[in-house]
Amino acid sequence: MVDAARVRDPVHNAELSQCTDCHSQVSFVPSRFRHATYALQGAHVTLPCRSCHVSGTYAGTPDACVGCHLGDYTSSSTVPNHALLGYSLSCEECHSQVAWSPAKAP
Ligand code: HEC
Ligand code: HEC
Ligand code: HEC
Ligand code: HEC
Repeated sequence: MVDAARVRDPVHNAELSQCTDCHSQVSFVPSRFRHATYALQGAHVTLPCRSCHVSGTYAGTPDACVGCHLGDYTSSSTVPNHALLGYSLSCEECHSQVAWSPAKAP
């Protein structure tokens, strides 16, 4: 019996109990996990799983940009000052997952 619980990224807990969703019987690496509804693109592709699934929580991960990036919107180091200009919280209207800059002009 392999010890999945020792794997740190992604955190293997009860939510990941269906091994064959992501692994074949040949080897564990590479895994074949693909998000069913949320295709990771751009800057997201190379992120460790745990950067979005903090402490191994999978169900209920927000899929709206603002669910994870509100801090980038409100940060005083973000230029231009989005809150002051009343920019929408729907980041995807102006940004892609590749990089914040360039962005579509408002
Ligand atoms: C949602 C997808 C998913 C499920 C379900 C899942 N795993 Fe994984 N597992 C991964 C990913 C992603 C990796 C990282 C491997 C990689 O880099 O491709 C991994 C890595 C591992 C590794 C480490 C391999 C290595 O050599 O580093 C083991 C062992 C493992 N999984 C066992 C299991 C077992 C046993 C189960 C079922 C109880 C399971 N996994 C369920 C996605 C999953
Ligand atoms: C950029 C953020 C991000 C990264 C990185 C990420 N995920 Fe997700 N993940 C999400 C979002 C958003 C959802 C919820 C939307 C959905 O279910 O497709 C989700 C849902 C899931 C789910 C539950 C629902 C489903 O689609 O089956 C699992 C399991 C999962 N991710 C595993 C992983 C694994 C394994 C990795 C690393 C190989 C990973 N995620 C990397 C954002 C991310
Ligand atoms: C109405 C369009 C618009 C919306 C909506 C928007 N932004 Fe922006 N954002 C911009 C523009 C324009 C820039 C400046 C891009 C540049 O400098 O090339 C920018 C820049 C940024 C930067 C700084 C980029 C850098 O390199 O300094 C961050 C971070 C950022 N936005 C995050 C967000 C987040 C997070 C959201 C959603 C919560 C959001 N933005 C919504 C237009 C928008
Ligand atoms: C489930 C959480 C999650 C969601 C949803 C999400 N992101 Fe991310 N994103 C991250 C994390 C974590 C990082 C890496 C840390 C960072 O740069 O903030 C990242 C990085 C990025 C980067 C690279 C930033 C840089 O400085 O290189 C961009 C651009 C980005 N995301 C845009 C988006 C856009 C646009 C959306 C919506 C379409 C979105 N993200 C949705 C979690 C998320």
